[in-house]
Amino acid sequence: MLQYSIQDHYQNLAKQYNDFWGTSTDFIEFLTEKIIEHLHLKSTDVLVDLGCGTGLYSQAIVAKINLEHSIICVDPSDKMLEKIPDNSHYQTVVKDAVEFAHESGQYDKILIKEMIHHIEEKERLLQGLFNRLNKEGILLIILLPPTIEYPLFQQALSVYESVQPHYNDLVNLCEKVGFKTTVDFIDYAVSIPKAQYFNMVKNRYMSLLSRFNDEEINKGLTEMTEKYANVSNLEFCDRFVFLSLVV
Ligand SMILES: C[S@@+](CC[C@H](N)C(=O)[O-])C[C@H]1O[C@@H](n2cnc3c(N)ncnc32)[C@H](O)[C@@H]1O
Repeated sequence: MLQYSIQDHYQNLAKQYNDFWGTSTDFIEFLTEKIIEHLHLKSTDVLVDLGCGTGLYSQAIVAKINLEHSIICVDPSDKMLEKIPDNSHYQTVVKDAVEFAHESGQYDKILIKEMIHHIEEKERLLQGLFNRLNKEGILLIILLPPTIEYPLFQQALSVYESVQPHYNDLVNLCEKVGFKTTVDFIDYAVSIPKAQYFNMVKNRYMSLLSRFNDEEINKGLTEMTEKYANVSNLEFCDRFVFLSLVV
């Protein structure tokens, strides 16, 4: 297993990230609808996309809602942020989420999608965000469940299960901080050409895969090749946990 840095992982991934997900327009559309619904997003809202990456979801939101304010897109990876169009719809901020949460600023809605697993100081983050939200504000945290059905090699799935934060622990932390929490599960049926998915694994599309060295990735791909020898498309359920938090 490799010693890996989250920062390096995303700096390296930035140039490919949109190629992996940008073509899955139905998937992004589907999740964006759910995000808008869970955030009760309206045109006057000041929205923060915390750990926004390349802003795929901010851009999908802008395409659907005529927001009066720029979306505040925050991420410590300047290379990920560089992929966001340079126009008045977005204000990019190169910053760590915990640091951002403890600066001044009041917001209506905050989105954290598939980023919370990178935060060590979760309680401190949540405490800061609790103070940043306006009275009617909503924080939406989207994360993967404790087990996933992804067609990955076995060791990757085992490591995933050992490192992924459990949403129930997060719910407890949120309530300790003072949030009222609602949990929802959103399922999307993925169908992806095998060659495309294998290429994503080879390129370590998930930060989880950065824990494996080249030899381990190649061994994993061999295992996957044997397991999925007779299929051309990989089909699986991608489940997301939506935690809606109000103050
Ligand atoms: C899996 S990507 C998700 C990106 C985006 N939210 C999406 O769904 O497409 C995780 C993102 O979290 C960012 N990240 C990692 N550590 C962070 C931190 N401490 N504060 C804020 N963002 C962080 C990474 O740079 C990366 O862009």
